[in-house]
Amino acid sequence: MLEHLARKWTRKEKQPDSGMDASGKIPVHVAVIMDGNGRWANLRSLPRVAGHRAGMKTVKEVVKAADEIGIRYMTMYAFSTENWKRPRDEVDFLMRLPQEFLSTELDELIDRGVRIRMLGSRDKLPAHTLEALLIAEERTRENTGLQLNFALNYGGRDEIVKAFMEMAAQVQAGLLDPSKLDEKEISRHLYTSEIPDPDLLIRTSGEIRLSNFMLWQLAYTELWFTDVLWPDFTREHFYQAIAEYQGRARRYGAV
Ligand code: FPP
Repeated sequence: MLEHLARKWTRKEKQPDSGMDASGKIPVHVAVIMDGNGRWANLRSLPRVAGHRAGMKTVKEVVKAADEIGIRYMTMYAFSTENWKRPRDEVDFLMRLPQEFLSTELDELIDRGVRIRMLGSRDKLPAHTLEALLIAEERTRENTGLQLNFALNYGGRDEIVKAFMEMAAQVQAGLLDPSKLDEKEISRHLYTSEIPDPDLLIRTSGEIRLSNFMLWQLAYTELWFTDVLWPDFTREHFYQAIAEYQGRARRYGAV
C-alpha cells in the first residue's frame, strides 16, 4: 500500500505541462465516451477494428494516468445497447476486447489496487465476454484503489427502464411504498447504485452528444469535448480536461 502511494507521488511530480494542478481539485469520478476509433482507422486505410485495438491501448494509458492523480472512479463507454446494430464482425471483435484487455492487463491492475466492475445488461453478451468480466470483478472485489467501470451493453434509457421495472415489482409485492419514491430510491436501482455521479464527462472525436450514456447520472456533470480521436488521445489530453475542470465553478443550480 505504501509502495503504491509512493509511486503515485513520484509520478505526480513528473506531470507534463497540461495546466493541471496535481495537488488541486481532482474529480472523484470521470466518465468517458471513447469515440472516433472507426475514423482513426479510416484515415489510415485500416479496417475499423484496427481503430478499436488502438483504442484499447488508449484505455490502458488513460487508466494509468487517472490512477496516478488519485481519481477514484473511471467509467468507460465500451459498447452501447445500440452498438449491436454494427456489422457482425465488428461486434464480435468488440466482444473479444474485454477478454484480450484483461488477459494482458489484469495482473498489473491488481498490482495497482484497481477494482473492475461491469455496468450494463448481461443479456445477449457472449459467454466468453461475460466470463472474463465476472472473473475480473471477482479477483478485484476487495481492491480499494481506482474503480474501473466498463459500460458494456449499456444504455442510459435501458438502465432507467430496468430500475422502474424493479421498483414496480417491489411496489406490487408490498416492499416499496410508492409515496416514498424519490431520487435516492431511483439511484439505488441503477447499475451505479454504489458509485457517485461523474464529476467530469469526456467525449472524444468532435461529437457533441451523450449517446444514451449515464442519462440520470450526468445531470450536474461538467462536460468536456475534444476533436481528438480516441486512439490519438493521450494522458496530456486527459490532464488538459482535468485542468479545465479545475477552472470551472460548479453551482448545482445555486448562484
Ligand atoms: C466508438 O468509436 C467506440 C466504440 C463503440 C468502442 C469503444 C471501445 C474501445 C475504445 C476499446 C474498449 C476496450 C476495452 C478494454 C473494453 P466508433 O467506432 O463509433 O468510431 P467512429 O465514430 O469514428 O466510427
